[in-house]
Amino acid sequence: MARDERAPLRSESWWNAGALDAIGHRSQFRMQGYPEESFTGRPVIGILNSWSEVAGCNAHLRDLAEHVKRGVLRAGGFPVEVPVISLGEPIIKPTAMLYRNLMAMAVEELIRGNPLDGVVLLAGCDKTIPAALMGAASVDVPALMVTGGPMLSGRFRNEHVGACTDCWRLHDELRAERITQADWDEFEAGMCRSDGHCSPMGTASTMACLTEALGMAPSGSAAIPAVDSRRRHVAERAGSQIIDLVAAGTRPSDIMTRDAFENAIRTLHAIGGSTNAVIHLLAIAGRLEGVDVPLDLFDDLAASTPLLANVKPSGAYLMEDFYYAGGLPAVHAQIADLLHGDALTVSGRTLGEAVAGSRIVNDDVIRPRERPLLSGGSLAILRGSVCPDGAVLKVSAASPGLLQHEGRAVVFGGVDELHATIDDPALDIHPDDVLVLQNGGPVGAPGMPEYGHLPMPSYLLRQGVTDMVRISDARMSGTGFGTVILHVAPESAIGGPLALIRTGDRIRLDTAGRRLDVLIGDAELAERRRAWVPRPHHDTRGYRGLYQRTVMQANEGCDLDFLVGRSAPVRAGITHG
Ligand code: FES
Repeated sequence: MARDERAPLRSESWWNAGALDAIGHRSQFRMQGYPEESFTGRPVIGILNSWSEVAGCNAHLRDLAEHVKRGVLRAGGFPVEVPVISLGEPIIKPTAMLYRNLMAMAVEELIRGNPLDGVVLLAGCDKTIPAALMGAASVDVPALMVTGGPMLSGRFRNEHVGACTDCWRLHDELRAERITQADWDEFEAGMCRSDGHCSPMGTASTMACLTEALGMAPSGSAAIPAVDSRRRHVAERAGSQIIDLVAAGTRPSDIMTRDAFENAIRTLHAIGGSTNAVIHLLAIAGRLEGVDVPLDLFDDLAASTPLLANVKPSGAYLMEDFYYAGGLPAVHAQIADLLHGDALTVSGRTLGEAVAGSRIVNDDVIRPRERPLLSGGSLAILRGSVCPDGAVLKVSAASPGLLQHEGRAVVFGGVDELHATIDDPALDIHPDDVLVLQNGGPVGAPGMPEYGHLPMPSYLLRQGVTDMVRISDARMSGTGFGTVILHVAPESAIGGPLALIRTGDRIRLDTAGRRLDVLIGDAELAERRRAWVPRPHHDTRGYRGLYQRTVMQANEGCDLDFLVGRSAPVRAGITHG
């Protein structure tokens, strides 16, 4: 591809800066053994790598980076590996979500401040994928992403198990004393058998699929297992694809258009993807100028988009099976008429061209259009007196018998109170009750942890109860399931109506009508609001203090308010003579 004259290499402004600056810039690479001709006059490609040993899902990305480098060199570029902060979903406390925006800032500023003409983003675990896309969107330098890929399916005796959908299921079995600690230990040993991110259609797998649907990852790459050599092929090809993007001057804003977001939202419904993706897509869109993606768009596109991926937690299989069954291109080919096929992808082809001819190999894992798991609406956006600004319910992972439900609220003021009292028989919780958790939101927790999959009382589990309606302003793991209403906005910590609900109130869930209401009168609600006293913030200093002062609500993507939008990439000026 011929270089676009409008897109001169930004790295040249570093090499050709004033004499004193330029010697400093060039010497940083000469000292590593690169002669001048190896990095000047050719695109410098940053491989932004979220590799870390405290982010196990990303621990293999050093290896993948080597394959990207091969591709960059083969295509005439100069690759440089740039580490960015990483977030190990289950490891970092209180929650990786608290730090997603911090990683996005690191990605943005490392691209912005360095002589990079294009970037390949390497990310795998839940938050690292959206964080990298958010940063790249804001700085808008040519970019593409190679995700780390899912781990191989776990094995527990004769059963395929997925981290962590089967953790939730078997943990309930352990609490109900139907399996032993020894069973649980054996399950743990076989749950994660290889490199890669979680094996169900959790948040990482969902975000990998949506990155591909947005056009920012190579077609067909999302579901390739992490340890499959074909993922390395993708990485090497990505190294040459980014050179083409730089040559053409194609930026993330050329690819992540409003049409691309509609494709991603359709994909989210068709794969039964994670509720967390709603927040992440809103945040990524917020970084792009002129791309208006309101929360209600998710509901508008739901009814007409069939659920086709029979993958846990909405279905029966795991990502490894999904890949062998045809992967995301097979899903896209089934719903091609619902997609904007002319949307551009990082391959230089349109999405329609990229998926044309893709076929289903196993029609139980990927259902054909005429035989979907659900005809539409795997996610629902609810409104009502509990959630005036919205809430999310994953219908495809809920109990059909609870989708229309009215019950007594049992309210917990925070996660510590929940865990201390949930098994207390004095609460006398019944299966028809509605469990409500307050103070689990972006400001309140802080960071909106995955508290939303509230545990049920062990005495009900022992009776065989498998699901209850649960409501919170927190999130749920993308691998979780149940009739779990999440992301209630505005959150309780800033005085949302969720803060005013008390044990004994009646709650009505009307999924068909997209409503969630607390059945108390306006006068009573107003009285409670007058009496409500906010809790003090947990943190006042450092990043956490900044986060609590500036984080936006779930219906706006939980970005920090000052990070919304773009910042133009800088060029090296003359700072020394
Ligand atoms: Fe990283 Fe699940 S813990 S994807």
